[in-house]
Amino acid sequence: MGAVSKQTADIMRVLGSFREFGTDDELSEAMRRPEACDFVYGNPHDVAPKDYVDALVRAAQPTGSSHYAYTMDLPAAVASIGEDLRARFPVAFHDHDIHLTNGNFVGLAIALRTLVDPGDEVIFVSPPWFFYETLIVAAGATPVRVLADRDHDFDLDLGAIEAAITPRTRAIIVNSPNNPSGRIYRPEQLTALATILEEGSTRSGHRIYLLSDEAYNRIVFEPHTFTTPAAYYPHSFLLYTYAKTLLSPGSRLGYLAVGPDIEGADDLRAALQIGQITLGWAYPVSILQHAIPELNAMRPDIPVLQRRRDTLVSTLREQGYEVVEPQGTFYVLVRSPIEDDRRFAEVLRTHDVFVLPGGMFEMPGWFRLSVTANDDMVERSLPGFAKAIAEVSA
Ligand SMILES: Cc1ncc(COP(=O)(O)O)c(C=O)c1O
Repeated sequence: MGAVSKQTADIMRVLGSFREFGTDDELSEAMRRPEACDFVYGNPHDVAPKDYVDALVRAAQPTGSSHYAYTMDLPAAVASIGEDLRARFPVAFHDHDIHLTNGNFVGLAIALRTLVDPGDEVIFVSPPWFFYETLIVAAGATPVRVLADRDHDFDLDLGAIEAAITPRTRAIIVNSPNNPSGRIYRPEQLTALATILEEGSTRSGHRIYLLSDEAYNRIVFEPHTFTTPAAYYPHSFLLYTYAKTLLSPGSRLGYLAVGPDIEGADDLRAALQIGQITLGWAYPVSILQHAIPELNAMRPDIPVLQRRRDTLVSTLREQGYEVVEPQGTFYVLVRSPIEDDRRFAEVLRTHDVFVLPGGMFEMPGWFRLSVTANDDMVERSLPGFAKAIAEVSA
């Protein structure tokens, strides 16, 4: 027997090429150079805004002896989240069904652990956020991949989802606005999805739950609007992270909200709490919990993100690239002018432009840009994109 458990070895295998890419020291060093135009991950490239930092500093000041005590879901924090959710969405979330998490990584891990047994299946849509499969395997379930409808702007392929449901299906992960496609699923699609899940639950004799990963639900571009899939299917978990809205993924803060009419509400409430404790007290640190009421009032600078998106979409199209215009999120999908997306990422790299190759997120032949790259990077990158496509087309 080796040092690592079979389950851990399986998880590492699933993460595969992403592990390699994410730990490439030479690449990381090249990306840190001042000349680098870094579009790889959704990381901030501007210093955190003063009002964000001030809110954390205020929240660090003890309000009493329990300020830094073991805290599960701080009442003032969940009350402020509950108010915000009820104002935005037509779902009467109860404050006691809101669980604070360390972002959607943890929200998903807790929800999956709570729901699945070995052999259960969890459906996810491809191209996915690159950790879904890993998190499903880590929870002991079997991932079932359903391709998005590429002929219709990466919409949900409802027929394929219906066909993928088996008696072992326990949950489906839906991510809208979608990373990497930027697609926001329309109400008609969500209504149809709810019917499919309801019928699938009836057929299999147990409830199929919807895990609605809404990391980007506040990053929506004009003229699009977002409605939560949880408003269409009561048996949903709404998962949110402040990482994207406040461009602070290192702060590890989010929440999971369970709908008031979810099947098994009482059991789930207790089980989610146990899930958080057994995952290693997976609650946000005290300072973040105390800051939530102030953080809830902060908004991303959509006009800035939209301007960067527009510059990249229009300029790259003029240069001859095929580009998918996102409706939300801060990602832009681009088709690699050569089949080998890794090779093309290397060509771009010689011009100090760093992108995420599509092979990392099940879209070989494409690459993804994050418009969290600052304005200066976006401007400086444009000649690099032009030279790279000219070089490979010559
Ligand atoms: C779709 C999606 N879900 C979940 C996450 C993880 O969020 P967090 O880092 O806040 O846990 C990300 C981060 O990139 C994401 O894009």
